[in-house]
Amino acid sequence: MEKQYRNASNLNARITLHERFSVNPYPLPRWLFDQLELPPDARILEVGCGTGKLWSENLGRIPDGWDVMLTDASPGMVRETQGNLGDSRCFGFQVADVRELPFEDGMFDAVVANHVLYHVPDLRHAISELVRVLGHDGILYAATNGEDHMREMNPMIQFLDPNHPDDGLARRIGAFSLEDGSEQLSSHFSEVSLLRYEDALAVNETQPLVDYVLSAMTLQEAVADLSGEELSARISRLNQSLEQELSALGVIRITKETGLFVARRRS
Ligand SMILES: C[S@@+](CC[C@H](N)C(=O)[O-])C[C@H]1O[C@@H](n2cnc3c(N)ncnc32)[C@H](O)[C@@H]1O
Repeated sequence: MEKQYRNASNLNARITLHERFSVNPYPLPRWLFDQLELPPDARILEVGCGTGKLWSENLGRIPDGWDVMLTDASPGMVRETQGNLGDSRCFGFQVADVRELPFEDGMFDAVVANHVLYHVPDLRHAISELVRVLGHDGILYAATNGEDHMREMNPMIQFLDPNHPDDGLARRIGAFSLEDGSEQLSSHFSEVSLLRYEDALAVNETQPLVDYVLSAMTLQEAVADLSGEELSARISRLNQSLEQELSALGVIRITKETGLFVARRRS
């Protein structure tokens, strides 16, 4: 995990694929921002903020009175986010692991945890940390993916690592997915609802798919010991297969399953 998110390059390869080839014309960061129902003076914590997209894509829409603390376990990500947003007065930046937040009890009206909880090994503990820093009427916004998200990438990953299990990229979301997130949250929150964001990818170039595959954490571990020559040979076989599929079909379609849990505490 540390290697995967040491800097923004892996995450950016994945964001690029989504930004360029998603069929839903309304971008996910804007849709996620639309769902924030908060008072004009809200204190907000984001954990696992990545490159800060949620805020950089909605800069003109942030109410003047909001106070937003952006955190990530990776110092590289926090640096990147600060570079993207540093001039805006409403933001604070801090390196912090969601399992051990350096904030007092009840400090925030809302916590945003988008596409991060599936990375956390001790999820139960992480969720109780989020609850601790939320006030009595606090709200958690937690976006995640479904088990079938990007399932068409599995055979692509297997070009590079034939032993890669068929659950491919989905493997890392087992602990907090659209399917089981509600169950994980309901013991900590009195109300949990799930909003779905409908989308898919229609990709008509091969290189962004190859870049996405190469950004996958599970794959990077598997190919770490291959020689440069062998890795290049496998990448070129993947490229050839994608070129053939593209010329046969005109477009490569990829399933997306994304949604947002909104979980409320009630005093
Ligand atoms: C898939 S990215 C999501 C980034 C951003 N929230 C978004 O939706 O674009 C996951 C982020 O979670 C961070 N992360 C992983 N484990 C973490 C932990 N235990 N505590 C805090 N951040 C963590 C990673 O460094 C990475 O920036």
